[in-house]
Amino acid sequence: MDYQKFIEEQIDEIRNAVKDGLALNALSGGVDSSVVTVLGHRALGNRLKTVFIDTALMREGEPERVLRTFSNLGIPVELVDARREFLDALKGLTDPEEKRNAVTRTFYQTVFGRLVRQTGARFLLHGTILTDIEETVAGIKRQHNILAQIGIDPEKEYGYRVLEPLKTLRKDGVRGLAKALNLPEEIIRRIPFPGPALAARIVGEVTEERLSVVRKATAIVEEELQDTKAFQYLAVLLNDRATGVVEGKRQFGQIIVVRCIQSVDAREATVVELPWEKLHRICRRITSIEGVNRCLYDLTPKPPATVEYI
Ligand code: XMP
Repeated sequence: MDYQKFIEEQIDEIRNAVKDGLALNALSGGVDSSVVTVLGHRALGNRLKTVFIDTALMREGEPERVLRTFSNLGIPVELVDARREFLDALKGLTDPEEKRNAVTRTFYQTVFGRLVRQTGARFLLHGTILTDIEETVAGIKRQHNILAQIGIDPEKEYGYRVLEPLKTLRKDGVRGLAKALNLPEEIIRRIPFPGPALAARIVGEVTEERLSVVRKATAIVEEELQDTKAFQYLAVLLNDRATGVVEGKRQFGQIIVVRCIQSVDAREATVVELPWEKLHRICRRITSIEGVNRCLYDLTPKPPATVEYI
């Protein structure tokens, strides 16, 4: 694929669509939204406002890390604190689709709606990729970042038009593009992370306490497995409990599942055969998190399982 040609075409398309208007985009720090941010800034300069929305569902240290990386690239990013809004919207919800829906609505309607009114922007640049569209259309999952494909007209419902410059690419194509745009290696190699963030890593209700547990487990898994060449690795908090013995006392504690997969584009995935020693180390560290007394390794490929649990 000729990445330079693709870059020029997308820059032209963004310019032609936005004309002399204003556009907004949300940066999560993943490779998709990072590439869109750089393309958008090349196309529009300061007529693109990039925001990092703190949803309360992010990984440890994420807001600081993303703002620092983009500040080093000379791209200004504004931090928007929407933690309360997301936690309130997720309160009491346990059904996966309802949780995804709550994140979508809060993101696009509540938070973006407000930013659109405040800034007068009429366009939203979004990092949707082909796999997101295919899986959503196939009904495998409602991806949080798909609107038009599931029959929501963002212009009518939220007051802005969505531009998706990466919608013909898969993950490998986006990484190639990131390289062609000279993005830092840490962004190019960043493992995929779902739009609903840690809400997709909690089976059952999302609460601050449960987020704190899965956030700690995620940090351990990401640190321990960063040297593997795996496509993706993650930790999931189950909605079940199990009896364990902690400091000589019986405890009905929480269960974390660890998943580490190999894949080209997440349409299919196989499980990585991690060394026992590594698995034991991860298990020891995860069961040191307060309230967690079991750690499981998921051996299920995709299909029949999906990568995420909700
Ligand atoms: P599943 O769980 O469907 O995941 O096998 C396939 C790939 O997509 C990621 N994923 C998402 N990415 N928004 C995203 O941007 C989402 O809502 C979403 N859900 C899943 C997942 O991490 C995996 O890489």
